[in-house]
Amino acid sequence: MKEQFKRDVANGLAKKPKSLPSKYFYDKIGDALFVKIMNMPEYYPTTAEFEIFKSRGQEMIESMGLKPDSFFELIELGAGDGTKTKELLRVLLNGKFDFEYLPIDISSSSLDDLESSLSDEFPALQVRKKHGDYFNVLESLKENHLPKVILFLGSNIGNLTDEMSADFIYKIGSHLKPGDKLILGIDLIKSEELVIPAYDDPKGITRDFNLNLLTRMNNELGGGFDLSTFEHTAEYTAEEGVARSFLVSRVAQEIPIESIGKSFTFEKGERMQTEISRKYNDEILNNILKKTDFKIIKKLTDSRGYFADYILNRF
Ligand SMILES: C[S@@+](CC[C@H](N)C(=O)[O-])C[C@H]1O[C@@H](n2cnc3c(N)ncnc32)[C@H](O)[C@@H]1O
Repeated sequence: MKEQFKRDVANGLAKKPKSLPSKYFYDKIGDALFVKIMNMPEYYPTTAEFEIFKSRGQEMIESMGLKPDSFFELIELGAGDGTKTKELLRVLLNGKFDFEYLPIDISSSSLDDLESSLSDEFPALQVRKKHGDYFNVLESLKENHLPKVILFLGSNIGNLTDEMSADFIYKIGSHLKPGDKLILGIDLIKSEELVIPAYDDPKGITRDFNLNLLTRMNNELGGGFDLSTFEHTAEYTAEEGVARSFLVSRVAQEIPIESIGKSFTFEKGERMQTEISRKYNDEILNNILKKTDFKIIKKLTDSRGYFADYILNRF
């Protein structure tokens, strides 16, 4: 993991414009900050998707055609704290469905926390956690031929460009059989007034989340970042439908990173992109799905129309 982190940082900081993959947000501090973000009043995606899972679990199950007497695997990519998934798990357990839940996450601490909260809340649930990058763990999905339902929630797909999303969804499909399902949670295009505060809140929780990437590079790679010389910004327009977060260098500076054995130059005002969060509509999603083996069988939205969970069938 550390070698990959080193390579990604060395590549990302040598690029123009500079960028870093958003998966590195999630260490123990990042996980805790993300839980705080999910609880912010400005962060509408969690409340909106939670509402869908809380109120429409039965509908989800019916539209997938799941039957209590046939075993399936419920596999979640980037499970996090599983708050929304637990709503679906409850309905499945109450309906006596026969399944195993496999949460995958790159953060071992959040997987451990999830495992222990699941054993408290759902002692009868069969759980097999998988630690790692879902791009790699996907490969091991092929191991058996059991029916599968994949969960990819929280608009995590939005961290990828449309081209990468199509490749990613295609790759998921290549590990599945016809009739398997994918539940894809995506954030819908909406106004700047609603989106910007979710990525740049007045209390500075999103700022701390973004700056924690610098702390991580300092602690894990021997970086020399002085956090006070960087600021957090977010930008988004409804026309483009992509929210981007940046760390901006307040001064011209050279930052050494010991384990890479190099220093990286930042101009005054130079931006390093740390996250993209794509927002979608049916047209954008359909264009992505054209390059995959999935078809939409159901779209479930929250009451405000902020977020959608699409049930996709692998054909
Ligand atoms: C934004 S959180 C969303 C959590 C949850 N899916 C939800 O909707 O609330 C993203 C989660 O995905 C995990 N994650 C991010 N990139 C990942 C990757 N490449 N492989 C595996 N897990 C990843 C993070 O550790 C984190 O728990």
